[in-house]
Amino acid sequence: MELTNPAPPQPTPLPPPFTHASPPPTLLTQGAEALLYRTHFLSPSHPCALKHRPAKPYRHPILDKRLTKHRILSEARTLVKCRREGVSVPGVLALDAEGSGNGSGGWMMMEWVEGRTVREVVVEKGKSGEGLEGLMGKIGRAVGRMHEVGVVHGDLTTSNMMLRPWSASVQNGTRVMNGDGDGEEARTVGEILEGEIVLIDFGLAVQSLQDEDKAVDLYVLERAFGSTHPEAEEGFQEVLRVYGESYKGAKVVLKRLEDVRMRGRKRSMLG
Ligand SMILES: Nc1ncnc2c1ncn2[C@@H]1O[C@H](COP(=O)(O)OP(=O)(O)OP(=O)(O)O)[C@@H](O)[C@H]1O
Ligand SMILES: [Mg+2]
Repeated sequence: MELTNPAPPQPTPLPPPFTHASPPPTLLTQGAEALLYRTHFLSPSHPCALKHRPAKPYRHPILDKRLTKHRILSEARTLVKCRREGVSVPGVLALDAEGSGNGSGGWMMMEWVEGRTVREVVVEKGKSGEGLEGLMGKIGRAVGRMHEVGVVHGDLTTSNMMLRPWSASVQNGTRVMNGDGDGEEARTVGEILEGEIVLIDFGLAVQSLQDEDKAVDLYVLERAFGSTHPEAEEGFQEVLRVYGESYKGAKVVLKRLEDVRMRGRKRSMLG
């Protein structure tokens, strides 16, 4: 029997109008649902992030289109709401949720956030575990602010939070980097933990003021933290401590978190 090599996987095509963008967008990550590119908005000096949700050939096309449209609009609406309420998230620049055939649509462009994901920072820093307390507090405060305005993230992990160095400051509404602009200048010991938490990836977010929903959000983060950063697990107490101080009603959510944990434990005992 003759063995033939399987065809190499084809890269997912970019949707128009990005097919001929110059320079071409750079692919950063490819998740289960979305591809994340770095590109520019209007002029090459204005970097932005492009999130593309390509069509899923295994889903029914009508259902797929509806789902993609819903996710993009829902993410954009949540980002706009957070922004309006002063929660630190990337601003929405443009989107085409639906498209008009030929693989168009299914994308959202947002402000580029300088810095690194909290996951990367903790992995690098967590080996020594020192100095993480301040960062943990910032996470607690950021999540608290988001919950205070009635947004539940739905996928809180350290990959869905970025640490933007203070050096990426805002001037005349435009974000600029000091130094050479690649974010590397902030990478000295100690300074690496400086900056502001920016929450990202609101594709599964919902608007809710229910304590239960907020408690589950915290539980998801706690679990994600435990599995991604077991060495820094103790630090999570600081996330919850600062969360508890961050808005009126936060303590009730923490109490509810105890019930959620209990249910989680029972479930895992039952297998
Ligand atoms: N606005 C942004 N600026 C800079 N980098 C970003 C931005 N948005 C996302 N990223 C980077 O791209 C990665 C993936 O983005 P995101 O978490 O939104 O997508 P995803 O997890 O693939 O999406 P989904 O879970 O909705 O399918 C992030 O972890 C981060 O490193
Ligand atoms: Mg993500």
